[in-house]
Formats: sequence, structure tokens, C-alpha cells
Amino acid sequence: MSGSGKERYSWYKRLNARWPWLKIGLMFVLLILVAGISNGWWIPRAGLNEERTPKVIAGLTVEAADGPPRAKRENYVGKKLVALTFDDGPSGATTPKLLDILKEKQVFVTFFVLGKNAEANPEIVKREAREGHEVESHTMYHQKLGKMTDSAVAKDINEANSVITEITGNEINLIRPPYGMINQAVRNQAKVPLALWTVDTLDWQSRNASAVKREIMSSVFDGAVVLMHDIYESTVEAVRISVDELREEGYEFVTFSDLAKIRDAEMQNGVAYGSFRP
Ligand code: NI
Repeated sequence: MSGSGKERYSWYKRLNARWPWLKIGLMFVLLILVAGISNGWWIPRAGLNEERTPKVIAGLTVEAADGPPRAKRENYVGKKLVALTFDDGPSGATTPKLLDILKEKQVFVTFFVLGKNAEANPEIVKREAREGHEVESHTMYHQKLGKMTDSAVAKDINEANSVITEITGNEINLIRPPYGMINQAVRNQAKVPLALWTVDTLDWQSRNASAVKREIMSSVFDGAVVLMHDIYESTVEAVRISVDELREEGYEFVTFSDLAKIRDAEMQNGVAYGSFRP
């Protein structure tokens, strides 16, 4: 028995004598396999990515990664609603201050960002989206699209869309044309609804927080879309002093897309919308 045992193991001894490092090598491979399996490396990549991607359903259920989830649509039915919207940003100087105020007061708004400014401040745009706000396009370079050809309009719009989508990970669902200027080229090339407004605060003109607040309080109505610009200190201050008073009057703050959804508006591509009355 012992003789046959020696014979049986002789191949192993020969192998060991010729390649003494083989044993260590095999153990190393085994260790990597065990570590890999216990770390979940065998799970298909697609499955993991799907779980990590925030789910966006009609702009209503953006789960914020480290902020509060956006309020549910059913909580807003039958309420007085207003959509605060901010153009021309983001600005490194003022937009973060506005975001702090919105976070503190639990107000969700819509940012129509400029592609070139988004490119310069991607972290601010990411924060806007992460904190539950809607981020849409105000085009790439703030040109007068209404005076441009189809191909020039398409180029500007597509460039902005890809820049913003790259940063937020969300598709562009709305475009706010600069100066509210719309022609057939804009209608043809937008491929999404056009977002206008009904309350113009003229914040760019007055640069005065109390004046902006007066404009809001005197013109606001249920379903209004308020136009402001997050690139002015005075506008940030105007938001700070207006939000509580709007709440006292019974207003709830929703994003542009949420307002449309809650009011059952089926927005069409290339068509402009500025309010959603009950
Ligand atoms: Ni603008």
C-alpha cells in the first residue's frame, strides 16, 4: 500500500521539484477567486448601474442622493400652486446662496441653465439636481433663436442639451428660449415643450429685492410661473423675503414640469406654455 502511495504521489513530487513556485501560484489564484466572489464581482455590471441611477418618472419622483426626495404629486392636488423659475445661471457667486435658502425653506424650483454656464459650474448644476430641483435648458449661448435658421437653432439647442444631460444625468424636458423669442425654427427644433412665464419680476432691471417681492405678490395667481434670474444678489434676497409670505397666502412651490402634471396639461413639443391654472 505504501509503495503504491509513493507512486501515486510521485507526479506531485516531480512537479514540485521542477516548479517549486507552482504551489504558491495556485494558492494565490484561489485567494483572488475567493476574494472576487465575496466582493460580488460576478454580478453583471448592468444590474449594479441600474440601481445606482436615480429614477426619474415624469419629473415627479427625483430621489435626491443626499437631500430630501421631491414631494409627491398627490400631496399637491387641490392646492394653490406656483412655479418659481430661474434663468441665466448658474453663477458661482449667487446660485449656491439661493440653493441654501431653498434647502432651508424646503422649496423646489426650476433652473433654466445656460449651457456655457453649466459647463463652467458643473458642481452647482449637479447640486441643483441632487437637491430635488428641476434642471432644464435656457440654450447654450443665450442667442436670439427667433432670428436664426433651423440648423443654427438646432446646433445651439443640441449642444446645450448634451452639456446639461452630461452633468445631471437627466434628459432635457423643457427649453426656455432666451427673451421668450420663438419662431418656426424654434418650434421645429426644440423637440420638447417651450417654457415661458406669466409673472415677470423684472429683477434684472430693478436689482432690488423689495421691488421684486412687490412684483411677485401683486401678480401671483394659482398656477403662475414666475420668472427670475439666479445671477443677482437682489434676486436671492427677494426669494428669501417672498417665500414665507407666499406660503402664508396658501401657495405651495412646485417645479414647472410638476405644475403641468398636477394640472393634467399634456404639453406638446414646440408649443409654448406660461401658466397652468386649475
Ligand atoms: Ni435669459
